[in-house]
Amino acid sequence: MSVPKPLLAALQGQSIQPAPLWLMRQAGRYLPEYRQLRERAGGFLELCLTPELAAEATLQPIRRFGFDGAILFSDILIIAKALGRAVTFREGDGPSLPALTDVGGLAAQPDTSVMAPVYAAVREVKASLPTATTLLGFAGGPWTVAAYAIDGSGRTQFTKACGMARENPAMLDAIIARLSDATAAHLIAQLDAGADVVQIFDSWAGLLPPEQFRRFVMAPTQRIVAAIHARHPQAAVIGFPRNAGALYAAYFAETGVTALCIDQAVPLTQAHDLQKHGPVQGNLDPAVLVAGGAALDRAVGDILAALGQRPFVFNLGHGILPETPLAHVERLVRLVRGGP
Ligand code: CP3
Repeated sequence: MSVPKPLLAALQGQSIQPAPLWLMRQAGRYLPEYRQLRERAGGFLELCLTPELAAEATLQPIRRFGFDGAILFSDILIIAKALGRAVTFREGDGPSLPALTDVGGLAAQPDTSVMAPVYAAVREVKASLPTATTLLGFAGGPWTVAAYAIDGSGRTQFTKACGMARENPAMLDAIIARLSDATAAHLIAQLDAGADVVQIFDSWAGLLPPEQFRRFVMAPTQRIVAAIHARHPQAAVIGFPRNAGALYAAYFAETGVTALCIDQAVPLTQAHDLQKHGPVQGNLDPAVLVAGGAALDRAVGDILAALGQRPFVFNLGHGILPETPLAHVERLVRLVRGGP
């Protein structure tokens, strides 16, 4: 019997063969049709905040590859914009915003006129998605969004944010509390609009030593998950505290997330152990997908052999790289699906 939504079923704790598959950043510059759409939109923010264009970007990788999950085309820094930070994206240079030094620099409530097009895009995708495809909403983890807001970009390796964590943790608590409330509301609104599941991307969680990781990553995540489950008790929440290493286990056991996304540095023996807490998602090295060939075949085989018998979702360990050849993605789909 075929499962209605294989990815959703895996996240709810079923062992699904073949493993459901989607790729972080699956809508993006490695796709010629994305580059064209991006050109048409004029800018990245315009693409994110025009519902029909964001919906189109979301659907492009589904049409081309038939992935089991469609992730809303948006960005983790839209929430910073809605809280009053002037975010810009320059081609090839990543996000840039004025450095935040005080919680007073964040509005108490997100500007609904900024967020409304995002939820319109969710509804639009939902209406045209194949019924077997799971729709994923997402947000950045409050620590990661705070890190970009405080440093003003990713160029300084978040030395200011890490400095605030050490030297003024009460201020960082206040910033993260405000971001957490907005993040919970944002994820709930995406579920209200039709998202089946949500993922929390805490891309820079691995910068924090253990005590700070508990305070600035685990504690807010736990609050966000509780707020989501108060409104949507059944909703699956995927947590991705990237580069958490030995701290992944505590995060999975204690924050209440339904499933854990892991980066490519996690050994498969550790990944297998993490499956005792629930479904795991990951963790092919994006560079191996660029390389292709025997290295790709071997890496995919190893991941499926280690993790494929228990609840598992095949993904990368971080976003797909723009230089990834389309043929390698096609090959990956065949390898995971068990085709010729
Ligand atoms: O996964 C998807 O396909 C959905 C869309 C998505 C984007 N960003 C689109 C995007 C998602 C889920 C994100 C998350 C995101 N954004 C994260 C967390 C995941 C991670 O990569 O660690 C972070 C840290 C950001 C912030 C951000 N946005 C950065 C650092 C950059 C620049 C890096 C780059 O690839 O250029 C962006 C821009 C961005 N977000 C692009 C896309 C497709 C490229 C913009 C373009 O078209 O020029």
